Amino acid sequence: GPEGSDDITVIHAGSLIDTEAGQMVRDRYIVIAEGRVDKVVGRAEFERMDSPDRFVDLSEMTVLPGLTDAHVHLIGQAANYGYNSLAESTPRAAIIGVANAKVTLDAGFTTVRNVGAPGYADIDLRDVIADGLVPGPRIIPAGPSIGITGGHCDSNLLPFEYEQTSDGVADGPWGVRKKVRQNKKYGAEVIKFCGTGGVLSKGTTIGAQQFTAEEMEAIVDEAHQLGMKVTVHAHGENGIRTAIAAGVDSVEHASLITDDAIQMAVQRGTALSMDIFVSDFILSEGEAAGILPESLEKERQVGRKQRERFQAAVEAGATMAFGTDAGVYPHGRNGQQFAYMVEWGLTPIQAIQSATTVNAKLFGLEGQIGVIKKGAEADIIAVDGNPLQDISELEDVDFVMKSGRIHLTQND
Ligand code: ARG
Repeated sequence: GPEGSDDITVIHAGSLIDTEAGQMVRDRYIVIAEGRVDKVVGRAEFERMDSPDRFVDLSEMTVLPGLTDAHVHLIGQAANYGYNSLAESTPRAAIIGVANAKVTLDAGFTTVRNVGAPGYADIDLRDVIADGLVPGPRIIPAGPSIGITGGHCDSNLLPFEYEQTSDGVADGPWGVRKKVRQNKKYGAEVIKFCGTGGVLSKGTTIGAQQFTAEEMEAIVDEAHQLGMKVTVHAHGENGIRTAIAAGVDSVEHASLITDDAIQMAVQRGTALSMDIFVSDFILSEGEAAGILPESLEKERQVGRKQRERFQAAVEAGATMAFGTDAGVYPHGRNGQQFAYMVEWGLTPIQAIQSATTVNAKLFGLEGQIGVIKKGAEADIIAVDGNPLQDISELEDVDFVMKSGRIHLTQND
C-alpha cells in the first residue's frame, strides 16, 4: 500500500555486490526511505537504530542493484517479424508493451532504454509506469528511431503504392534535425538512429552506411544541444566509424567493428552495446517466427563475428554497455546475455558492472541507479546463489524492488 514519507524499510543482505568497488561484501543492512537508499550499515549500527516499519530478510541471498538494459523494444509483440508484423496496430502494440514491461521487471531489470517505438507509445508506457498504474521498469524512451528512406529504420515490406513510411524517416541535415526536435517535443529522452543496414529489415545491407557524415553530425549536434544522448544502430565498419566520429554516445550491435574503430571508441569513450545473445534465438527460432530468408542469411554472416569482435573490444578496454535487443527475442530473458558476455571475455563482476554502473553512466544516471548507496534509487534485486561464481544465477532473479517498492519476492 502507499507508504508514508518517513516510512523506513530495512533489507538485510547476507551478501551484497558493491558494483562501484567491484566486490562482494557480507552482512549489510540497507536502509530505505522515500524510495531511495538512505544508508548501508553494518550489524552494530543497525542494532542501534529504531525498529524499521518493514524488515526484509535477504540474509541467505546475494543482493545487488537492479539490472539495466540499454537496448530493448517493449512496444509490440516480441519475435514478430517480417510480414507478420504489418498487421499490428500501434494501440495493440502498446497494450502488449504493458505485458512486456511486467516480465522485464520480473526478470530484475529495473531501468531500460527503449531504443525505437512506433507512435511514441514508449513515452506513454514510461508515464503509466512512473504513475504507478502498471508495473514495469523505469524507461528511457527514444520515440521513433531516425533513419533514411528505405533504411533499416524504415519499413520496406510493401510496394510503392501503399506509401508506407516509418515514423522516424527523414533525409538531409535539416530533415533529421527536425526529427530530433520532434522526438524531444513528444517526450523522448534519448535519440536512436540507424547508421547502417540491419539484419531484420528487408532490402538493407549490414555493411552499408546509412546517412552521410553531415547528416549524422546534424543528429548528434541537435540532440546534444537539446540535452539528449545519441545511440546509433550500426553493424558495418563505415557506419560505425562515421557515427563515432560524429560524436555518438554509444553504438548498438557494433558487429563488424574493426580494431581501428575499437581504438576510436576507447579514445572517445564511446560505449559499445553489443547484443551477443540474440543471434542464437534468431537462428534457432527465427524461421518459424516469420524472419525473412534474407535476414536469416544476414544473421549467419554476423552472429559469430559479433562475438569475436566483442572479445576484441573487451581486450582493448572498450566501455561495454549491456544491451540485448529484447523484443527480437521474448522479453524477460535479458539476463541470459550475462553468460555469453562472460564466455566472450568479461569477468562476472565486469558483466554485472556493464548492466549497472556502466549503463548508469551511459544513461546519464550515474549515482542514481546501478549502485546501492546513499541517494540512489532503491532499485534492489536478489538471487539465491552467487553470481560471481555462476553468472547464470542472474537468469533467475528471486527478489525485485523498484524505487523502494517490492515488486517480487521468492514466494511469488
Ligand atoms: N535489430 C537488429 C538488426 O536487425 C538485430 C541484430 C541481431 N543480430 C545480432 N547478431 N546482434 O540488425
